[in-house]
Amino acid sequence: MLDIKQMIASILEKEIPTLDDETIYNMLEYPPEDNMGDVALPCFKLSRILRKSPVQIAEELVNKIPSDPRIEKVESLSGYINFFLNRQEFIKEVVSTALRDKNKYGSRDIGKGKNIVIDYSAPNIAKPFHIGHLRSTAIGNSLYKIFEFLGYNSIGVNHLGDWGTQFGKLIVAYKRWGSKESIENGGIKELMDIYVEFHDEAEKDPSLEDEARQWFVKMEKGDKEALELWQWFKEISLKEFNRVYELLDVRFDSHAGESFYEDKMPPVIEELKEKNLLTESQGAMIVDLEEYQMPPCLIIKNDGSTLYATRDITAAIYRKDTYDFEKCLYVTGAAQSLHFNQWFKVIELMGYDWHDKLVHVPFGIVSLGGEKLATRKGKVVLLEDILSEAIKKTLRIIEEKNPNLENKEEVARQIGVGAIVFSDLSSNRIKDVSFSWDEILNFDGETGPYVQYTHARTSSLLKRAEENVDIGFDASLLSSKEEFQLVKTLYLFPDKLVAAMDELEPSIITRYLVDLAQDFNRFYHEHPILVEDKDLRQARLALVLAVKYALANGLKLIGLNAPERV
Ligand code: ARG
Repeated sequence: MLDIKQMIASILEKEIPTLDDETIYNMLEYPPEDNMGDVALPCFKLSRILRKSPVQIAEELVNKIPSDPRIEKVESLSGYINFFLNRQEFIKEVVSTALRDKNKYGSRDIGKGKNIVIDYSAPNIAKPFHIGHLRSTAIGNSLYKIFEFLGYNSIGVNHLGDWGTQFGKLIVAYKRWGSKESIENGGIKELMDIYVEFHDEAEKDPSLEDEARQWFVKMEKGDKEALELWQWFKEISLKEFNRVYELLDVRFDSHAGESFYEDKMPPVIEELKEKNLLTESQGAMIVDLEEYQMPPCLIIKNDGSTLYATRDITAAIYRKDTYDFEKCLYVTGAAQSLHFNQWFKVIELMGYDWHDKLVHVPFGIVSLGGEKLATRKGKVVLLEDILSEAIKKTLRIIEEKNPNLENKEEVARQIGVGAIVFSDLSSNRIKDVSFSWDEILNFDGETGPYVQYTHARTSSLLKRAEENVDIGFDASLLSSKEEFQLVKTLYLFPDKLVAAMDELEPSIITRYLVDLAQDFNRFYHEHPILVEDKDLRQARLALVLAVKYALANGLKLIGLNAPERV
């Protein structure tokens, strides 16, 4: 794959013998303006090593650089050496690469033979799938696809919150205030209601809490009645979760949730004891982390039951044994950072040298910018409601703009859901996000529909052309500044994917797609594509098809569909 920085670094290396080409590579920049060239070397950093002024260095170097067919000209300007690419060669190379690689454009084999476990989504049974879980699901799903595209074997795990004291509470609540029919009809909302009722009542009557604890202890001891109820709550919840996953088009390789580790915890607790890590504290068993400026990690409560951390420690060991992962990523809200730091430390103290392969991928809080939805549905905003609302709104827009569109419902799902997911992945994950319907569904703004719409525009151009795009197109015909700018952006696609992987940041792709779509639309508005002249038409169509591959691949990597028509 073409790497223009690499190409320039190897030319420069011969002229700057004191530096190796990697150092030079890292110094190279993409200048912000066209008149500054396509790649530039700032000579400020060289100044100290070569004991000359940057201006002097740049001027001397420029004269030494041998001519090269891939470079049009080299100039020195205020301490920078600016390289101007041979545009025709560059365009030919970039566009043909995309045309050749098609839906693999941008893919690599960086992760070949390596497993990466991604723990994401992980909603809690009997609690609604709310908008916070969307972030985990969207970020995790995107990382899954990015790693896979770059050659890793991704393993997606939905670590369902299906075990813990809350089920004891739910059983007590069900026995007092629930009924089979009401739960079967009301689903998670009904389970939520009785759960809330439990908390209200328990404030007046604390003995309810004891009762709940006893039920969870029963669950951990394998009590038949307790486990049957738990199983039933789980089925009801999963039915609702699966509807959401269906809408989002998200799948997992494993659904091993917290309960899966129930019988795997005792040996781990034993191991902690043997390694002298457990201490007793007020009847509970903890790992003291004072030395590391953290509160203790609770392993067993004073009633003998286990905790969230106990299951995470057990799950990590199990996953290491099962998948021999290169990295295991945990995508959850930033509020859980302490929890992860604590038990990552416990894994380290247990002597596992792979503790540094465990990575918490935190994200900020989501709010729904002043939308009525929140109040209408009560305290929580159900993700399913938001998604259906977005789909409905999109369908209305389609009815207005393109009523004869085939497969309207499915396209509305792809765009409506895409709008929400795209918006969610638009800013750095650690930032808090606020949804605004107007922004999300705007077909012109920096949104998912805008990118999807641009992709559909490339499709319909290619369809209307009714001819095959030939890889032998004449690149010299793509001579305008819009075309060159578009190819420059297209060229960056593979690099952006690697950056998104390194930084665990899908927003790098999201923002890139907006840039690419904008550059494409600028080109489209300035230059007619289906022109009479066959060679010019072929050259422009080649560029359109190359951009279509990048848009489609990029959308797929952030978990969106790329509809052919909208
Ligand atoms: N169920 C948890 C929650 O909703 C998230 C679980 C994340 N994964 C993990 N291995 N702890 O907050």
